[in-house]
Formats: sequence, C-alpha cells, structure tokens
Amino acid sequence: MNKEIVCSGIRPTGNLHLGNYFGALRNFVKMQDECDCYFFIADYHSLTTHPTPDNLYRNARQILIQYLAAGLDPERCTIYLQSDLPETIELYLFFNMNAYLGELERVTSFKDKVRQQPNNVNAGLLTYPTLMAADILIHKASKVPVGKDQEQHLEMTRTFAQRFNNMYKCDVFPLPQAYNFGSELVKVPGLDGSGKMGKSEGEQNAIFFTDEPAVIRKKIMRAKTDSGPTEMNQTKPVEIENLFTLLKIVSSADAVAYYDDLYNRCQIRYGDLKKQLAEDMVNFTQPFRERIEELSKDEQYLVRVMDRGKEKARESARKTITEVRHIIGYRN
Ligand code: ADP
Ligand code: TRP
Repeated sequence: MNKEIVCSGIRPTGNLHLGNYFGALRNFVKMQDECDCYFFIADYHSLTTHPTPDNLYRNARQILIQYLAAGLDPERCTIYLQSDLPETIELYLFFNMNAYLGELERVTSFKDKVRQQPNNVNAGLLTYPTLMAADILIHKASKVPVGKDQEQHLEMTRTFAQRFNNMYKCDVFPLPQAYNFGSELVKVPGLDGSGKMGKSEGEQNAIFFTDEPAVIRKKIMRAKTDSGPTEMNQTKPVEIENLFTLLKIVSSADAVAYYDDLYNRCQIRYGDLKKQLAEDMVNFTQPFRERIEELSKDEQYLVRVMDRGKEKARESARKTITEVRHIIGYRN
C-alpha cells in the first residue's frame, strides 16, 4: 500500500522554540515512519522580511541542526532546503495565475503584516499562500503538520488545488489538511500572559531550544501572573491558564493535578509552580541542547544531509511538475 504523503516546513527566521516543537516539529518526528515525509526549511518564504545573505545562510543552517536535534532522521524522511527545489517556483507561478487579489488581501497573516510593516508590503507577502500551496502540492501531500495559526493557509491551499483540478478537469492535486498527531491543532501560549509563543512576540516570550538552563529559569520566573485566587474553584485568568497549559506540556499529570488542586483551594504559591515548570522545561530541552552542540561541529554530515534531501525531493517534484506542465498545455 502507498504511504500517505506528508509535507511541512518552517521559515528560518531564528532559533526554534517550544511552540514550533509542539505545534509542528513533534509531529514531523512522529510521522516519519508511517508516512512518506518531506520536511523543508522555508528559505524562500523568509525573503519577505529581507534577511542579509549571512543571516539567511546562518539561520537555514541552524534550522537544519535543530530539525535533526529534535529527532528528524534523514534515513526515514526527506529533509531539504526549499530553495533547492526550483520546481516549487514554477508551480507557484501557475497558482498565481489563478489566485485573486481580493482573496489574497483577506488572508489574516497578510493583514497582520500590513499592520506590522506598512513600509514593506511586498508582492511576496501577498502571494505567501500560493507559494505555500506550491510547497505542499509539488509533492501531492495530503497531510500538513502545523500549528493552529496555519489553518487558514491550508484552506487556501485546498482552494488553489481544487481550482486547478476544476479548470483542467483533472484530479492531479489532493486537498491537503492541516494535521496534528494528537488530533486538535495546537497553540502553545507564550510567557507574557497573552497570545501564543512566538519569535516575533519577543525573546522573553518564548523558550528556545538553544536557551541555557539559567535563561530558561529566569524567563519562567518572570512570566506574568496575578495576585492569586481569592475564591475556591474560581476560573483561571488567561495568564494563569497559560502557565498550566505549559505545565501540561512538559510536566507529569501528577504535578499538574497537584498545582490545580492548590489553585482551587486558594493555596497556590506561583513561585513554587514556576520553579517546577522551569526545572521540567530545563530537563525537557536538555537533550536538544546537547545534540545541537554535537551537530554544529559536524559540517560534513550537514552537507551530506542537504545533498541527499535535495536529490530525493527533486525526484518527487520533477514528477509533479512534468505532469502539471503537460496538463496546462506545455507539450515537449
Ligand atoms: P513564529 O510564530 O515563532 O514566527 P512560525 O510562524 O515560523 O513561528 O511557525 C513555524 C511552525 O510552528 C508553524 O507550523 C506554526 O504553526 C508552528 N507554531 C509556531 N508557534 C506556535 C505556537 N505557539 N503554538 C503552536 N504552533 C506554533
Ligand atoms: N507558513 C509556515 C509558517 O509560517 C511555513 C511554511 C511555508 C509551510 N510553506 C509551508 C508550512 C508548507 C507547511 C507547509 O510557519
């Protein structure tokens, strides 16, 4: 039986954090045996923010190291650089011919960027979803492990796939779904009491794979709390709920139940909860830090992984692009 095809990527814009891990990367790691997996470093997408050549290169290398440190195995899945696959760009062009200004302008992530960087509203940002659709559909992937914030992009991917199939009366593309191994899509909260853990929300809001234990402890001890519960069994305010969500992610069920009970009886001391959370975070990330250090020294291995990944990914991409070109009417 053919294995299900899975594809996902992360932009190389900085070190990976626990949001990236629990939203996306952990799924990559778990799916690599039972599916045919293509995991890439989205170094075309990161151009929307105009990185310097040095930063582009360094960040892509860091993401590769961190993919491997988290448990991606190049023997069991295909790991590659998006920019090693020019076929993606050709498919991106085809999708752009049937992507409409109105629908692209309505995408939430685009509207956010217009607000955040009004002086750099470039066409790459506008067509971010068509490039993402091309990434996924170049391998005809049907499952896409991502966090909750990517749901709308997947909806667009299905729109472009369906539109192409309808236009050319074919069923060349599947309609891919955002996927989480645990079932629900995940949103890991940050430490500032609001929203999600993310790079753009500031250094202090996220726990990065590369953070030293002292840094992790400091960040967690500074996480936002309130002055404590005043009534038995009261609903937790957002910032406290967030700390419990983080505790559920890295600590034992017993520890979560223990602090929940103290909260409900108005006897919780946030300092104790934070100490527990910090130690569990330090232990959880320790193996990542060790492997990152080891892998960083092995340049030859990293080059081999990239070369092999490129070869395998292009094989799959060439098949799709040949078929698509023929369907569109480019007959050699
Ligand atoms: P960031 O928000 O730090 O810029 P990206 O947007 O590059 O992270 O996200 C890369 C992947 O990690 C995506 O699949 C995204 O859905 C996932 N992700 C990022 N932050 C979180 C989070 N806090 N919770 C769940 N998934 C997340
Ligand atoms: N948009 C994703 C993010 O911001 C990155 C990405 C680019 C991606 N192409 C993709 C994710 C294809 C999944 C599939 O994190």
